[in-house]
Amino acid sequence: MAVIGIFDSGSGGLSVYRELIQLLPRERFVYYADAAHCPYGEKSAAYIQDRARKITDFLLEKGADIIVVACNTATAAAIATLRAAYPDTPFVGMEPAVKPAALGTRSGVIGVLATAGTLKGSKYLNTRGLYQDNVRIVEHVGQGFVELVEKGILDGPEAETVVKASLQPLLDAGADTIVLGCTHYPFLQPLIQRLCGPDIRVIDPAPAVARQTLRILREREVALGIGPGSTELHSSGSTEALQRIFALINP
Ligand code: DGL
Repeated sequence: MAVIGIFDSGSGGLSVYRELIQLLPRERFVYYADAAHCPYGEKSAAYIQDRARKITDFLLEKGADIIVVACNTATAAAIATLRAAYPDTPFVGMEPAVKPAALGTRSGVIGVLATAGTLKGSKYLNTRGLYQDNVRIVEHVGQGFVELVEKGILDGPEAETVVKASLQPLLDAGADTIVLGCTHYPFLQPLIQRLCGPDIRVIDPAPAVARQTLRILREREVALGIGPGSTELHSSGSTEALQRIFALINP
């Protein structure tokens, strides 16, 4: 049985967990929400690196065979330092889905929603550089999206106003594909899709990250499929948001 450690600044990483559990229903999941330090979006890379190391130590103590950094911002700020500091541990990070968006766009314009930290990280800038000659890439911070999800406000007038403010500039620029570059945002995806209309494709990279996790576990020959399947939820702060989103996934 594999022990899969997952972390995020809060409940957003549960959008990745939701995909992982489909592929790996019999493994043991240990999820850590850094709720006391959420959001990460505007924090310095050094701060996030320090948090990521402390959380990794916790997950390794829990026996993690692999760690999924289910946070685009933490991936951008810290995955390279984690890989250097823990060379024996495999880490899977988030990748904004620019590639599938660039390959699939018909209008030639793709929109990326992410946190400020992700958009200025070298990982994202490198990926962007690979595609920007062929497609126009427009970006916007999902201002207030993380806070909505942490409060459990996934629809209704308040969520609509907040989401529209960041989404509309991308639609106005002609984007026909919207990349969700923060793991909190998929919980707002039904609302985002409704505001976009049916002709716009909204991409959540979580299924690809789950497949990559499975690939690495197989490569490492970790015995899979033999456990009863379980999930532990941990948080550095309140567990209220976490429990609420978890209940949405496991009604
Ligand atoms: N869910 C995270 C991400 O993917 C973090 C958002 C935040 O804490 O600002 O970027």
